Amino acid sequence: MTVEPATEPRTLAPPERRVAEVTANEPVGAYTLLRARDAAGPPDPVPGQFYMLSTAERWGGDDGRPYLPRAFSFARARPAAGGGAELDFLLEEVGPGTRRLAALRTGVEQRLVGPLGEGFRAATGRRVLVGGGIGVAPLLCLADGLSPDARILLGFRSAAHAEAARLFEGEPALATDDGSAGRAGLVTDLLREELDADRSATVFACGPPAMLEAVRSLCADLGVPAQLALESGMACGFGACMGCVVETRDGYARVCLDGPVIEAERLCPGGP
Ligand SMILES: Cc1cc2nc3c(=O)[nH]c(=O)nc-3n(C[C@H](O)[C@H](O)[C@H](O)COP(=O)(O)OP(=O)(O)OC[C@H]3O[C@@H](n4cnc5c(N)ncnc54)[C@H](O)[C@@H]3O)c2cc1C
Ligand code: FES
Repeated sequence: MTVEPATEPRTLAPPERRVAEVTANEPVGAYTLLRARDAAGPPDPVPGQFYMLSTAERWGGDDGRPYLPRAFSFARARPAAGGGAELDFLLEEVGPGTRRLAALRTGVEQRLVGPLGEGFRAATGRRVLVGGGIGVAPLLCLADGLSPDARILLGFRSAAHAEAARLFEGEPALATDDGSAGRAGLVTDLLREELDADRSATVFACGPPAMLEAVRSLCADLGVPAQLALESGMACGFGACMGCVVETRDGYARVCLDGPVIEAERLCPGGP
């Protein structure tokens, strides 16, 4: 059975930081899949929403720094036996916070707040999903809920990163920067070909800022609606610190509260 994306883009988070038990930690090529049982959280976060994660032990300890939790899209969510949700996160280690989270082993505790922000909105007609690098994470749960004719286009740096493509059902189209898996080139090359063949689509995208700007610009040129899941440095994750604002055509938006998924037509040319 396929389930269309929710029309309400937000599931509300319980107003507290919770403890979740890590139930799996598996390498996926260059990334880590971390699974946690969020026994007291909602079972139905909306694809594109995110959680603020930290470890329960040694988050700021020993060699210091992490202090603030870090933002992560959930990649998949299943109702957990006994209540709450079993949540999958796909992590790329880029600094001390992601390193400490990726080092968590089954049975230990982590902390989380979420789900936060607004996720992808429902759309009718043909869907084209475009993911770059670790930005494929929120597209996994989105793709699970769509009919099999949705097109999935993924771009990665190398074959080791492209291992994440195997987490998707079906056969996503693949491009890598170095040509070590799929086509040599950019995922936006695949998108251009897809939309040149048929512009009647809604595009859902997540990836690095340069990729999202290329998707925004291409979709604007072709008159194709697009929803972009943005990233921004986040301190609080729930609208209080203004650390995550981006400029839009109708003023500043807080990525954590008004996004992370924002309609492409709201964004100013030149990148979020
Ligand atoms: C809504 C949202 C969803 C995200 N989903 C995922 C996800 O599913 N998987 C995942 O691995 N990461 C995700 N991220 C990015 C993740 O939050 C950062 O990689 C993490 O905060 C880095 O923390 P760190 O302590 O490891 O590294 P830091 O030392 O804090 O940062 C390491 C490097 O990454 C840069 N950086 C840190 N945060 C960001 C950011 N938000 N955007 C761009 N550059 C950043 C820093 O400038 C620095 O160069 C998401 C971010 C947001 C805002
Ligand atoms: S992260 Fe604090 S307002 Fe968005």
